[in-house]
Amino acid sequence: MKHFAFATVSTLAVVAGSSVLAEPQAEVLHWWTSGGEAKSVAVLQEEFASNGGTWTDMPVAGGGGDAAMTALRARVLAGNAPTAVQLKGPAIQEWYEEGVLADISSVADAEGWADVLPASIADHMKCEGTWCAAPVNVHRVDWIWANADVLAANGIEMPATWDEFNAAADKLQAAGVIPLAHGGQSWQDATVFETVVLGIGGPEFFQKALVDLDPEALTSDTMVQVFDQMRTLRGYVDENFSGRDWNLATAMVMNGEAAFQIMGDWAKGEFLAAGKKPGEDFLCASTPGDGYLYNVDSFAMFDVDGDDKKAGQDLLAKLIVAPNFQKVFNLNKGSIPARTDVALDDFDICANLSAEDMGSTSDAGSLLPSYAHGMALRGSQSGAITDVVTAHFNSDMSSADAVQQLADAVANSY
Ligand code: BGC
Repeated sequence: MKHFAFATVSTLAVVAGSSVLAEPQAEVLHWWTSGGEAKSVAVLQEEFASNGGTWTDMPVAGGGGDAAMTALRARVLAGNAPTAVQLKGPAIQEWYEEGVLADISSVADAEGWADVLPASIADHMKCEGTWCAAPVNVHRVDWIWANADVLAANGIEMPATWDEFNAAADKLQAAGVIPLAHGGQSWQDATVFETVVLGIGGPEFFQKALVDLDPEALTSDTMVQVFDQMRTLRGYVDENFSGRDWNLATAMVMNGEAAFQIMGDWAKGEFLAAGKKPGEDFLCASTPGDGYLYNVDSFAMFDVDGDDKKAGQDLLAKLIVAPNFQKVFNLNKGSIPARTDVALDDFDICANLSAEDMGSTSDAGSLLPSYAHGMALRGSQSGAITDVVTAHFNSDMSSADAVQQLADAVANSY
């Protein structure tokens, strides 16, 4: 409580220091429009308002944020950037290189972010040594979600290997249950693909293939096996999968129409928003194999005119990293706090597993950035990979052709 009172006073100091008497304003671009996401972003809107801020919402629907990023580019090109933008991974540094981001180091220093954020997360938030983004959370991408009753009714345990997954899926299919709830959108294909790369290739292979873009790894037999498994998974989705939103796929698991979904833990936000209980109604397990794929949501502030907007940016940055927001937001969102000093007692078993695995994989060197969620590569590179993954998933392309196309696409990206 004492800590919180101190934090509130220092918010006012920061705001007053940067822009005397200005009333904080912020137009905030984000893509949090599903049930669980909307509930989560409302936490920030409420905190901003209760600290005197006026929030102008700019939601751009579309899981994974592709549509939001297109909208952002249009706004910046028109010389009318939003005040704060949900942005992450190397895209932060790419926008910094374009000279359009505001420096939020004064807030970060006043709030001691360097002392409460793991170095790996802090690095993503920095641009040439200055702080240019504020981290909201850590989402884990490599998760399988399951309907507990459907598994029990079919005598199936959560799979620990891809072979077990395939055997379970065959059994479910024979029983008339859709094994895998999936939405045929390229970012969802990429999400599944990267968990298969991690599971079949292992953490070192993931690093070589999807972080270092090593041509040998991209054309290896291991990558052929990855595409073979993607073809197998394609056989487990229902025929109406094309274009389906991720949260509708989550709903299929919730209502027992499908057994599994492979998706980051924003899916848990949907289960929770619908009143479902982890371990009872739905189950969570990391996808088969070692390692942990992290995806850190963050907000970058754009260079805008006006003391009210600058005050809004300082206030938002301060609130985002403050302990109360990190706790309440992440309880709703399905993720875990980016700060290391927020107690997880009120968090569920899936969140606690995520935190434990994040610690152990960090020690083991297998904590890896998600390529599918923009944490590992520049946009043109990840886009080139995703195009091939989607083209393979939606055609009868052979695995051998897919690896060749993958290597070519990466070589031609920059
Ligand atoms: C974001 C999540 C979001 C998900 C679905 C991910 O890239 O990191 O915050 O919930 O996309 O839109």
